[in-house]
Amino acid sequence: MRTGSGQAGDPAPAGQQAEPAISSPSATTRLVAWHGDLDGWLDGLGWLRTLSDWLTAVLGPARERHQDNLVLELLHGGRWVGHPLHPALSDLPIGLWAGVMVLDATDRDPAPRRGIDAAGMLSAAGILAAGATALTGLNDWTVSNDQDRRVGLFHGLLNTVALGLQGASLGTRVAGHRGTARALGAASLAVTAAAGYLGGHLVFTKGVMVSRVAWATEPRRWTRALQEADLPDDSPTAVVAEGRQIMLYRHRGSLYAIDNICSHAGGLLSRGPVADLTVTCPLHGSRFGLADGCVSRGPASQPQPVLPTRIRNGWIEVRGSQPAPRRPAKGRTQP
Ligand code: FES
Repeated sequence: MRTGSGQAGDPAPAGQQAEPAISSPSATTRLVAWHGDLDGWLDGLGWLRTLSDWLTAVLGPARERHQDNLVLELLHGGRWVGHPLHPALSDLPIGLWAGVMVLDATDRDPAPRRGIDAAGMLSAAGILAAGATALTGLNDWTVSNDQDRRVGLFHGLLNTVALGLQGASLGTRVAGHRGTARALGAASLAVTAAAGYLGGHLVFTKGVMVSRVAWATEPRRWTRALQEADLPDDSPTAVVAEGRQIMLYRHRGSLYAIDNICSHAGGLLSRGPVADLTVTCPLHGSRFGLADGCVSRGPASQPQPVLPTRIRNGWIEVRGSQPAPRRPAKGRTQP
């Protein structure tokens, strides 16, 4: 005979053990959720935080001094490339060192040979490519945000270890110790894979160097943003229209509206200075033209969306880039 209503909260029948309210996560759950706390784990490494803060204090002011340097901007990828350069370059050492593994695995000649063979050539080319990749990565690192920096630093340290192992592998290969060279090369590729995973975490989980305005299309209809009388001349003003953050600016009677979230890493443009109808992001100094959103200085590589404006009944109205489809007039039939 059943007792109780069977609803949650009923006491367990006498002689039966009540189940714990929260069961421990199953092995299956752990298998798919282990990466969820990657940031928390890295944040718990005190030495990493200290090293990150120290490097920021050293490199930050140096970068600000050379903000207009075109080489630095090109190392980001910049407005000419339209994408960050670092992820593309990182494919080179990974591919070249994977080629070393394939050649080593298919080489059936166990005799020690001095000098550089085909695998050694790939290893050396990968080391050169890794140097260039590290430069672009370090450059991107200086314009990333707080927690992303610690993940990025750990990623860079792993890559440095991988580079050291590959260098040792090349040295022993040239000296004729091929067994040791293979082991060091395999270890280097394993560490590179771990570093690559963290690089993927930065981009795909944390959105580093991903355009922050890629989905900014609202509002779909003309929407009131601010009363015209409330917009001072020559003063960047932040407004929100249907959830989209917009910066309004009026100069000599002309009105400009541009996405307020910087495409590079989310800085608020309305907090930056405007000169010659160009706004400078207060976070890392990217510059965007107010009329067309074009980048005139990186690290941003994507233009900033601009919005059409109009004034109706004393209100400034804005509209996004994808207007809603017109409704068919009443009484008319669709083809
Ligand atoms: S957030 Fe980096 S330049 Fe704007």
